Amino acid sequence: MTQHDRLLIIDFGSQVTQLIARRLRELNVYCEIHPYQNVTDAFLAAFAPRAVIFSGGPDSVTRPGSPRPPQSVYALGVPILGICYGQQVMMQDLGGRVEAGEHATAEFGRAYVEQAGRGDEFLSGWFQGGREQVWMSHGDHVAEIAPGFQVLGTSPGAPFAITADPARRFYAVQFHPEVHHTPNGRTLYENFIRLAGFRGDWTMGAYREEAIAKIRAQVGDAKVICGLSGGVDSSVAAVLIHEAIGDQLTCVFVDHGLLRQNEAAEVVAMFRDNYNIPLIHADESDLFLSALDGVSDPEVKRKTIGKLFIDVFQKHAAEVGGAEFLAQGTLYPDVIESVSFSGGPSVTIKSHHNVGGLPAKMGLKLVEPLRELFKDEVRALGHELGLPASFIGRHPFPGPGLAIRCPGEITREKLAILRKADAVYIDQIRRHGLYDEIWQAFVALLPVRTVGVMGDGRTYDYACALRAVTSVDGMTADYYPFTHDFLSETATRIINEVKGINRVTYDITSKPPGTIEWE
Ligand code: XMP
Repeated sequence: MTQHDRLLIIDFGSQVTQLIARRLRELNVYCEIHPYQNVTDAFLAAFAPRAVIFSGGPDSVTRPGSPRPPQSVYALGVPILGICYGQQVMMQDLGGRVEAGEHATAEFGRAYVEQAGRGDEFLSGWFQGGREQVWMSHGDHVAEIAPGFQVLGTSPGAPFAITADPARRFYAVQFHPEVHHTPNGRTLYENFIRLAGFRGDWTMGAYREEAIAKIRAQVGDAKVICGLSGGVDSSVAAVLIHEAIGDQLTCVFVDHGLLRQNEAAEVVAMFRDNYNIPLIHADESDLFLSALDGVSDPEVKRKTIGKLFIDVFQKHAAEVGGAEFLAQGTLYPDVIESVSFSGGPSVTIKSHHNVGGLPAKMGLKLVEPLRELFKDEVRALGHELGLPASFIGRHPFPGPGLAIRCPGEITREKLAILRKADAVYIDQIRRHGLYDEIWQAFVALLPVRTVGVMGDGRTYDYACALRAVTSVDGMTADYYPFTHDFLSETATRIINEVKGINRVTYDITSKPPGTIEWE
């Protein structure tokens, strides 16, 4: 368990709870999100938070049986901030009154809050311009505030937009300070953590030292295996673990023959030659490509690759002999158990390739040194560990690799064409200084040949689609608005430099309704 000052976020199911955590982490505060069902009296006592935040949520506190925190939270003597549903919970629990939504008082979207009352340390730096823009999203509203509370801010739809009981350091806001559309929201978090006495002791330098000590304590002198994909997460995990236990770590890099141009060589050079990490480079491309021979269904492709990967990884890991631990680059968003109100499993759009099944099958214990980190923190840690910036900032690449960027049957010939086109496209994006603005960019090779004319001759070659999207987390995405000049220059380069492609299209589908990858 971390030694840092800890803040507890009790999750009532808001879509944006993770953003609260990110805002706090940016302010060097260590926090954890836990669903309200798991937060018991005993949990609270063991967690010993220095402050608590109640998230928003979709329920109505006026409904009997709606989500609540344990009432002992109010007796901890620590500051509490209630946001939206969290505000209403606080009011209802402490003797105020909440009314169910009516059209007249519901507020969604941008609103302006004006100062009321005497002001408070919580609002330091706010209301400089008289009023503040905030993001509202509520149906219910507080009709009567709890005894001891006073009003600090009002909006047309929320007379109790900001309320506080300064003596107990309880604060409640109707809006969402964590979202982008509350432009000055960070100030409220800064004020809240300052008045809670946080030292701002969550930094990547400190994290690195602690993580190393923790890995040593967990592993002792046992051997550890790490599956290296070339992605940021597994790379940072490998370098960190190597720093902790040196050559007790062996990395296994499975090359399934579906990687991008030069990718395998770069991974081997970086980890084996640069970091001196023992590395098994398992070139299994023949095996994977023959298993995929004639397969065109996307789900069959994914499942074939996923299953083979586990077998192959296991085989090569066994070469290490006597390993007791498997290292994984699991991140905090994978660990958060979010509150699901939808009930029931959601529809599977794509069966993701992951190595989640490995530990149980191999009888290994897990080392997951990134479990407490968000993606941007992993990047900061990678930077701290000296990984090159160009590597840390790389776009995500899917486990099944180029197989899902080559709709229809995969052949070596198609893969070779795709690799070349992709390399030209990425080079174009880098040359134009656009790489870091784009979440992910790649070429998909389409399973159609089209007629063209080059020189004086007829061509009959493949068409390809360029894809580039902006996104925050890959869950939703929009296409990147390249200029026409960029697109035509890139199309010309691809057709001139890549034999086998005579037509280039740009995919302008957002997600939803499209997905980022083509399969
Ligand atoms: P989609 O295509 O579902 O992709 O919009 C969302 C993000 O996930 C990546 N992706 C994968 N990553 N294993 C992975 O590790 C997979 O099987 C997989 N499929 C898609 C995709 O590249 C995008 O960043």
